[in-house]
Amino acid sequence: MAKRASRKQSTKPTRTARQTARKASKGPVARRKTAARATATRRTRTEPKPKEPSKLATAGAAVKGAVATAVAAVAKRMPGAKPDMDAITLLETDHRRFEDLLKEGEETTDRAVKVRTELLETITTELGIHELIEERILYPALKEHPEARDIVLEGFQEHHVADLILKELHEVAKDDEQWGAKFKVLKENIEHHIEEEEGPMFRTARGVMSREQLQELGAQMARMKRDAEAGRLPKGST
Ligand SMILES: [Fe+2]
Ligand SMILES: [Fe+2]
Repeated sequence: MAKRASRKQSTKPTRTARQTARKASKGPVARRKTAARATATRRTRTEPKPKEPSKLATAGAAVKGAVATAVAAVAKRMPGAKPDMDAITLLETDHRRFEDLLKEGEETTDRAVKVRTELLETITTELGIHELIEERILYPALKEHPEARDIVLEGFQEHHVADLILKELHEVAKDDEQWGAKFKVLKENIEHHIEEEEGPMFRTARGVMSREQLQELGAQMARMKRDAEAGRLPKGST
């Protein structure tokens, strides 16, 4: 994965203040995380390939996951229901945030240099942390299940493509007509990736993992996210 060398040095971002997050995105957090993801991708390539799941097993996991997804949706709407912070809910919350940021970017013009600059820094930092927690926690746990292996491998590659487009966006002048076109391609790529995750990937995850396991993974991801936002990256990320 290419390094985002064009970014400036950072201060630490906070979890809630967007302005602070934008400042924090100017540097080492995302670069170190990128190296971590490169390592994760390399590991993926060298691991022995497990035996293929049968079509029946894959279909079974999908059906089971669809039922579990429907149950989770109903549970969330029940009066007095506590906010469900399992791994999938956490990631879907991030996804809604990315959709808003991408829509905001798509609506900018070539004159909005400052807005584009800040927005790009925010997306780079937040997407980097989101990819990190997926690639360090959910993807490896999910990949142990043969029914989910292909969609997880595809997820790694889609992250890689989004990272490449982001890197190029940092290299193009914000008032260049190419910037808007490139940003639109980034938006479409991320939206497609979100569809894949929230469709086949998360459906399969709910089918092959217990509710308790998804909650435990969610807790781990929330911890890693907080640490990364504070500039404390997991081992091997530097
Ligand atoms: Fe995601
Ligand atoms: Fe992802």
